[in-house]
Amino acid sequence: MPRGPLAASVERLIGRYREGGAAKTPILAGATDVLAYALYRMPATLAACSNMLRRSAFHLPDITTVTDIGGGTGAAAWAARDQWPDASVTVLDQVVAALQLGRALHAAEPGGVDFTRWQAGSAIPAADLVTISYVLSELDQAAQSELVKAALGAAHRAVAIIEPGTPSGHGRILMARQALLDAGWQLVAPCPHQLDCPVRQPDWCHFSARVERSSMHRQLKGGELGHEDEKFSYVVAVPGGVGAPEVSDRPARVLRHPGKRKGLVELQLCRPDGTASREVVTKRQGAAYKDARDVRWGDAW
Ligand SMILES: C[S@@+](CC[C@H](N)C(=O)[O-])C[C@H]1O[C@@H](n2cnc3c(N)ncnc32)[C@H](O)[C@@H]1O
Repeated sequence: MPRGPLAASVERLIGRYREGGAAKTPILAGATDVLAYALYRMPATLAACSNMLRRSAFHLPDITTVTDIGGGTGAAAWAARDQWPDASVTVLDQVVAALQLGRALHAAEPGGVDFTRWQAGSAIPAADLVTISYVLSELDQAAQSELVKAALGAAHRAVAIIEPGTPSGHGRILMARQALLDAGWQLVAPCPHQLDCPVRQPDWCHFSARVERSSMHRQLKGGELGHEDEKFSYVVAVPGGVGAPEVSDRPARVLRHPGKRKGLVELQLCRPDGTASREVVTKRQGAAYKDARDVRWGDAW
């Protein structure tokens, strides 16, 4: 496809996503938009989904089926299959061109991923894990709540919801988090507790995933750097009650790039007691200091 129309699509899509808010018509308007999305956004949503699932996988053994709601070109499906290579994934979306491209991208590894036309409000196929990746921002508030509720109804073992790592993205994650708690679900990542989120405005809870840019990606976005850092907010939960993983004695979560200076590491932590605060680990603390030198933003501590 010629680069001109693709670059125009990228510009239009960047504008639409920057505006935010519920879309009355699908944002991906046709094959050009879909290809542009796959080139300039999908690598980032894939990196963010991979990061989220990798950090949650310990709590999610035995995932054999996944339903990805609003899955578009299939970013979360790739992330899920990286984590659970034998899982069968069903990708649901309203945009036929996105499903077609997603299917084509998966053609090299036949089986395992099914792309199905679907409109929010229709039935959601049940699965061990249900993912909602970068979709809530395209729905109005009532539809967001409905979708989260429907995802809970369809998930046997876990729900994973991810949004852009912006204040409004975190706001939508907080809404989803509350719906999960109200339904008696147990949060497994990133939150180390079930209490109110201690990260308050003007701050917001978010993480970062490094994305290597292809040369096409660089050309379309007009960027010089060979990489970008995708910021994301997320929540992963499992059904509460008997059989849910033990979450007492949970480790804290690192909320920022650790500050490293000679002989000390400064960590901003979300703690199991529901507070968020700073911890300074010094060289005198030996093994803890060694660990702190290696810990990264988003890791457990
Ligand atoms: C920003 S894209 C995210 C795609 C993919 N999940 C990812 O992470 O790259 C949002 C997707 O949600 C889908 N979507 C939005 N509203 C929808 C609705 N009402 N019914 C079905 N799909 C919807 C769009 O078609 C689009 O593919």
